[in-house]
Amino acid sequence: MTRLTGRRIIITGGASGIGRATARLFRQEGAAVAILDRSDNAAKAVAEEIGAVAFGCDVADPASVAAAVSQAAKAMGGLDGVVNAAGILSETGITDTTAEAFSRTVAVNLTGTFLVIQAAAPLMQAEAKGTIVNIASGVGLMPTGPGSIAYVASKGGVIAMTKAAAMELAPAIRVNSVCPGAVETAMTAGQIRTAAGDPNPAIASRYALNRHAQPEELAAAILFLTSDESSFMTGIALPVDGGRTFH
Ligand SMILES: NC(=O)c1ccc[n+]([C@@H]2O[C@H](COP(=O)([O-])OP(=O)(O)OC[C@H]3O[C@@H](n4cnc5c(N)ncnc54)[C@H](O)[C@@H]3O)[C@@H](O)[C@H]2O)c1
Repeated sequence: MTRLTGRRIIITGGASGIGRATARLFRQEGAAVAILDRSDNAAKAVAEEIGAVAFGCDVADPASVAAAVSQAAKAMGGLDGVVNAAGILSETGITDTTAEAFSRTVAVNLTGTFLVIQAAAPLMQAEAKGTIVNIASGVGLMPTGPGSIAYVASKGGVIAMTKAAAMELAPAIRVNSVCPGAVETAMTAGQIRTAAGDPNPAIASRYALNRHAQPEELAAAILFLTSDESSFMTGIALPVDGGRTFH
């Protein structure tokens, strides 16, 4: 349990779901963790539970990101890792998506990821090392069906931006993305299980493994891409999707 000993890592969206599971695992692996989340109270509660620090932050707001990243690095005595897990879902198609709704989804999922990278990269370059893991989505590789036009566009953007950032920030900083399939979190509550509490077969059947994932299964992949075990990997989009996108 020492794969991240000595590392100082910001996790956005760490108040819930995949970000929270990642924050817990990273603390178990010896990292110092700073949670940045717009849900200030929930972030502080998780931080207290696992021995991390937390700062309120709206990733879509450049001033909020600059302040929170700077405070987090100061609190940890430096910065050498980022996990961008903050995100929002939108599930409307082309005709039902207003320009405002499209922009908001892109502002959080794509611009928000960019803003955190922009604020964090100089701090990690000062350490001459670092890792960034962006949580994209399997739908950014291949949509599951119609609808979610803004969400799919934002996640495809995260995958492409990860490659551009990997080129620009090499060799000091490795930048990778993870592309989850359906994960049981607050984001998917109400659709991932039936009213009776059973796994929703309409979702499970999309996956070769015929089930949805738990957040800890994503955290394990994020740990791999943050640790030295992935030292020769940068710019990749890693599907963690129960075998939906390989065929
Ligand atoms: N759950 C899934 O099935 C699934 C699948 C593929 C990708 N993802 C992606 O994984 C990431 C984590 O999602 P999750 O399922 O854990 O969702 P979640 O809703 O449980 O957690 C998302 C977190 O992001 C925070 N957040 C939202 N907007 C923010 C903002 N503007 N600024 C700061 N924090 C903000 C929320 O407060 C919350 O704590 C997201 O990027 C999501 O798109 C999730």
